[in-house]
Amino acid sequence: MSAPTAVRERVETLCREIERHNRLYHMDDSPEVSDAEYDRLFRELQALEEAHPALRRPDSPTLRVGSPPAEGFATVERREPMLSLDNAMNADEGRVFDQRIRRELGDEAAVAYVGEPKLDGAGVELVYEDGILSVGSTRGDGRVGEDVTANLRRSTSIPLSLSGDAAKRVSVRGEVALPVERFEKLNAGRLERELEPFANPRNAAAGSLRQLHDIDTERLRALEFRAYAIGEGVPAGTATQAEVLEQLAAWGFRVSVDWERCADIEAVFAYHERILAGRDRQAIEIDGTVIKVDRLDQQQELGALSRKPRWAIAFKFPPQQEHTVVEAIFANVGRTGALTPVAKLRPVRVGGVTVSNASLHNQDEIDRKDVRVGDTVVVQRAGDVIPQVVKVIKAKRKKRTRKWKLPKRCPVCSAETVRLEDEVVTRCPNIDCPAQLKNNLCHLASRGALDIEGLGEKLVDQLVETGLVKRLSDLFAVERDALLSLERLGEKSAENLLAGLGKARQTTLARFLIALGIRHVGETVADLLARRFGDLDPLLAASREELEAIEGVGPIIAEAVARFFADERNASEVARLQSLGLRWQKTEPRITGKGELAGKTFVLTGSLSALTRAEAKRRIQAAGGKVTATVSKKTDYVVAGDDPGSKLSKAQELEVEVIDEAGLVALLPD
Ligand code: IVH
Repeated sequence: MSAPTAVRERVETLCREIERHNRLYHMDDSPEVSDAEYDRLFRELQALEEAHPALRRPDSPTLRVGSPPAEGFATVERREPMLSLDNAMNADEGRVFDQRIRRELGDEAAVAYVGEPKLDGAGVELVYEDGILSVGSTRGDGRVGEDVTANLRRSTSIPLSLSGDAAKRVSVRGEVALPVERFEKLNAGRLERELEPFANPRNAAAGSLRQLHDIDTERLRALEFRAYAIGEGVPAGTATQAEVLEQLAAWGFRVSVDWERCADIEAVFAYHERILAGRDRQAIEIDGTVIKVDRLDQQQELGALSRKPRWAIAFKFPPQQEHTVVEAIFANVGRTGALTPVAKLRPVRVGGVTVSNASLHNQDEIDRKDVRVGDTVVVQRAGDVIPQVVKVIKAKRKKRTRKWKLPKRCPVCSAETVRLEDEVVTRCPNIDCPAQLKNNLCHLASRGALDIEGLGEKLVDQLVETGLVKRLSDLFAVERDALLSLERLGEKSAENLLAGLGKARQTTLARFLIALGIRHVGETVADLLARRFGDLDPLLAASREELEAIEGVGPIIAEAVARFFADERNASEVARLQSLGLRWQKTEPRITGKGELAGKTFVLTGSLSALTRAEAKRRIQAAGGKVTATVSKKTDYVVAGDDPGSKLSKAQELEVEVIDEAGLVALLPD
């Protein structure tokens, strides 16, 4: 049965609109709709496609939400390797490069160049067949990369189809980078969850592409792809790199706006200086400029040597490092009670920013670098936004300095600190520690959580220090008179807070879960939990296994959630918050993974006849199922084709249901 025309048209309109919003958001930085409106459009399209699978277009934006193969990334071999670049560290080396080029071209006249920012991300290649994105891969060793298509699709800055004319097969090369602002947020979140922060945006970007489990979709969505080269499929008549960049933009790619055609090498230097001066204003990290011979025929003539083109060079920025003195080291107590050593530095300008603090991460890090108060250290902001202490200049160490250790007692509440055997973190175990409580309150009041108007950091400090709030739920029990007794708090502010609290009482389950400050439960996970359970009681009753079965929730998250609710003090806080009036709309629980086969795990073995293996896999996944490589007790079905391998005997041994191809087809939705 074919779908009515109205549905077909609606699907097309939605696809177009959603991709337009993606472009507005990513390419033009000027979104027209709220996130909620965007989600509504997206879900409408998903629902229509689920009801009418035949209407799903090969470039539908819903394809941005698939998962990578469970058994790891396939490799992609390329015909034209992705090249790397030689470096020039200064103008002299730049001149040597220019002279060599002119000599080799046998041309004493000036050679024109194109200067581009050197983006500090991860190189990727995107292949489009008949204008539709088919494979995206990491650079790997240049010739062989990893197929990370499913993860790349999540980044809405990657066009799923090319605008305008293109060859049958086109490969586009560029850099995937995490914008600095997102990187900072990501690392702040990681520190909060006591995860090792990423050293720089490049590592964070490369790491996101290679995620296989517990996929952080927010981070993928935030990735920005910028194109700078065409591998295969350069349109006939394209004569220069400048035209390549224009073509890429015309196809719908984001291209660095500040590339420039330079008539000779002196113009290149001027360009380099200009980009260097503005490096701190770039949305994504750059670590130099790339200088390319503009004319493609000249590029061809110059050729490449051992995977490095002879027609291009990376002109690196000087490293952003400075020396300064550690004036003090103190321990900061975070929301989860973690003690983080922080070095207070004599303020110094590094790459245009004044640095006066640097995290020393944990005791192991301090021991490894042996950082002491009074030491002269090298601080760096290379590719990082969080300044780092690179090393101590031991020759400058004064006499009688001492190794620094985290305090045995919490600097805020004096409780004895603990460090578990297999953890790097030292923490204050006192959940009523005012430092933790203040942080928890700020978190609870923040916009992503209960969004309490009128409750800022200062007021939180006052509430905790005066003892009015001794645990989270006390906040909703404070009375007007008690508030008015606080110093410097006027009637208006008290009214504001009470009104803010009143408004915040009506919330959503997801926000409530975020507000509780459970480790690892941020916006994404809270949303998954709220959708899966619909209300708090079924969530409280859920086992660790049930939590883990939710797509996007891995063992660490499941453990953290289960452990949180198993703690009686937390359970009583949750109950008290509800009795103090916190409410949310109950919703119908939805098994995530949607579709008939949600939550079911399949293993394919032997050769199939009606379906190819890839097809079978795709259809199982489209119906919400999972395909894994090895048979375990968690496997629901083993699909055995002809000549099944040892997986069949394994299935029999573990008493896993074995079905044949026809059995699989019967399970699949039409
Ligand atoms: S062109 C000629 N252009 O830097 C082929 N590469 O250090 C080389 N990169 O592997 C690529 N920005 O991942 C080119 N504007 C840019 C670039 C750029 C960053 C990366 C790329 C390359 C690496 C070499």
